[in-house]
Amino acid sequence: MSYYLDKNYWDENAESYNNYVESTKFSLFYSIMAMEMTIGKEKPTLPIKLLDVATGTGPVAIAASKYISQFNPESSITAIDFSSKMIEQLDLNIKNQNINNIQTAVMDGLDLKLDDNTFDYGLSFFGLNLFSDRVQGMKEIHRVLKPGGQVMISTWTEDSFWNIGFRVILTEMGLDYKKYIPFSALRDPVLFESELLQAGFKDVRIVPIEKDIPLPNIPLEQTIKMFEKNPIMLNVMRDLNVEQQTQFVPGLIRVFFSMYPKDQSEKGFSLKSKVLLGFGNK
Ligand SMILES: C[S@@+](CC[C@H](N)C(=O)[O-])C[C@H]1O[C@@H](n2cnc3c(N)ncnc32)[C@H](O)[C@@H]1O
Repeated sequence: MSYYLDKNYWDENAESYNNYVESTKFSLFYSIMAMEMTIGKEKPTLPIKLLDVATGTGPVAIAASKYISQFNPESSITAIDFSSKMIEQLDLNIKNQNINNIQTAVMDGLDLKLDDNTFDYGLSFFGLNLFSDRVQGMKEIHRVLKPGGQVMISTWTEDSFWNIGFRVILTEMGLDYKKYIPFSALRDPVLFESELLQAGFKDVRIVPIEKDIPLPNIPLEQTIKMFEKNPIMLNVMRDLNVEQQTQFVPGLIRVFFSMYPKDQSEKGFSLKSKVLLGFGNK
């Protein structure tokens, strides 16, 4: 089984994932854009009920908690993940930030223990794209949305920093990088649209978003540490021999640096990225 399908690997790496998310804030940027395209346009006045599937340590849930409260302070969020350690870390983040409108639960996104017709919005950022059965994950969100409720799902594409880095480094090592890019399995907009339709969504639209993700100005060794514990990386590492393993993460970071030859010592560097956002209505 791939590491990213096994909750134990997400459990083991919840703390380092939290550091990575705090440093890059990548899902935060994209989720706010998605919410502006939907909730921001509709400006609902009644309390909003929002579900965040595969929340991880909760960057999207926390951003959403502030975002939806501006429309109605009674608005609330349910944030779920199948990794109990991710949820423990999210609970800590919620407590540290004095947030009181997020309920968390350990739950499988393929089998939500939630009632039908409950939520106004269902989100999954860089989570559902990793599921073993994405359509089933989408069907579960569809089931728990109220009629007229909306889904927002993100996926990495061929032009995301992950893909670009994997393509260059793994090809250099003589490996087929395509085997290691499940995080961009929905990169084909036609496939993405058809899976949302299969799950029962209407008015489906797939929107490409290009954005450079700024990384903090930290030493290369720290950047490597931030990346190397991610189950997406572990999934590659286990197929490499010892020599290749020592080359892989530093090589990846070298590619990231070379994509952005601006003054790294002064400004840090950014990761070039294109994602797709998928929307649909129940
Ligand atoms: C790359 S992280 C994304 C987390 C968060 N949404 C973010 O934007 O930072 C993927 C998350 O999906 C969770 N996950 C993977 N498969 C899952 C499943 N079947 N049900 C619930 N969570 C799942 C993992 O535990 C992990 O926290």
